[in-house]
Amino acid sequence: MLAEKVMATKNHRVVVTRHGGPDVLHMIAEPLPEPQPGEVRVQVLAAGVSAYDLMHRSSGMLPGTPKPPFTLGEDVVGVVDKLGAGVTAVAPGEMVAGATFKLGLGGGYSEYLCLPATALVPVPDGVDPVQAVCLVVNYLTAHMAMHRTAQVQRGERVLIHGAAGGVGSALLELGKLSGLVMIGTASRYNHDRVSAMGATPIDYRTQDFVQWTRELTGGGVDVVFDPIGGFRQLWRSSRALRRNGRLVWFGVAATKQAGLKVIPLTLLMVALLKLLPGRRLLLTPDLSKENNWYRNTLAELLDLLAAGQINPLVAARIPLAEAAHAHELLERGGYAGKVVLVTTL
Ligand SMILES: NC(=O)c1ccc[n+]([C@@H]2O[C@H](COP(=O)([O-])OP(=O)(O)OC[C@H]3O[C@@H](n4cnc5c(N)ncnc54)[C@H](OP(=O)(O)O)[C@@H]3O)[C@@H](O)[C@H]2O)c1
Repeated sequence: MLAEKVMATKNHRVVVTRHGGPDVLHMIAEPLPEPQPGEVRVQVLAAGVSAYDLMHRSSGMLPGTPKPPFTLGEDVVGVVDKLGAGVTAVAPGEMVAGATFKLGLGGGYSEYLCLPATALVPVPDGVDPVQAVCLVVNYLTAHMAMHRTAQVQRGERVLIHGAAGGVGSALLELGKLSGLVMIGTASRYNHDRVSAMGATPIDYRTQDFVQWTRELTGGGVDVVFDPIGGFRQLWRSSRALRRNGRLVWFGVAATKQAGLKVIPLTLLMVALLKLLPGRRLLLTPDLSKENNWYRNTLAELLDLLAAGQINPLVAARIPLAEAAHAHELLERGGYAGKVVLVTTL
């Protein structure tokens, strides 16, 4: 007897009920969303959890944070469930990956959501949806920073901060494919992973990364990738460069320990570094404004995954209903790679 697909009548979605700790995340049940013209309803299999989710959950101060209740989640992989009028690019039953940028903020922590068809890219057969979801924001960010912003050349020497994190591990994988010589900062417990991914690890907690980078390279690296931010951190990253090296700044992971006050201090140092000669400070463009690049590069990354040329590091697969545990894990640290929510439909 053929197994029949059970038709869901409700959507379960995790909402931020008010700003606060992980306990403000609650699951609600609601009618299934209906796709509008040009949209696709996706049954979510995997949704990424990111450092930005923690910032938007804990405070309403960050520009772009909506008033609660709202749903987090920037990246999803799922199965096409229903087409809105005029959609022909994808078919029901097909697996797709996509970012939720076009919705404004988030939406991914759901069993079902409607996304513009233009945000979706088909996932090749045989690919693990959890690994595929790592590509949508983390690998696109890493690809953008490495190839569009820094324009790295084979053989260049680079320092990657947060090398065991979601974006850092993506930079390591793409850097290896591009023939870069890599150094990565990480806590000691992540050093074996960083070495296995092809970089020389530095323990940023106990070692002076400026001194070690300059010693390892005999004068400094060509490029530093810095998703940590902070006044002192960015200044020190600039000192790890050789003369006329490039510093790519693209994040503020330091807010996890030091709070949102890190952001204005980071912007002040960014402005100072732009004025100082002897190095180039580079910023990454906004992923959400790069439609053609987004679709082409995500398809390219999915092909690399299907061909086994990249192997995204998954820190944990956590049921959607336990989203609060996922946030606790991110806040606690001690993981490597990306934390992913999975549905159990
Ligand atoms: N511009 C964009 O489009 C974009 C997109 C995505 C992310 N981001 C930025 O990138 C940042 C990182 O994102 P993610 O998803 O990779 O976060 P993540 O998975 O939480 O990784 C961050 C890593 O940073 C490490 N870390 C913390 N403080 C550090 C320090 N002082 N020096 C070196 N490493 C340190 C931690 O490593 P250990 O556990 O080894 O200590 C952690 O693994 C985010 O905070 C966000 O600001 C930007």
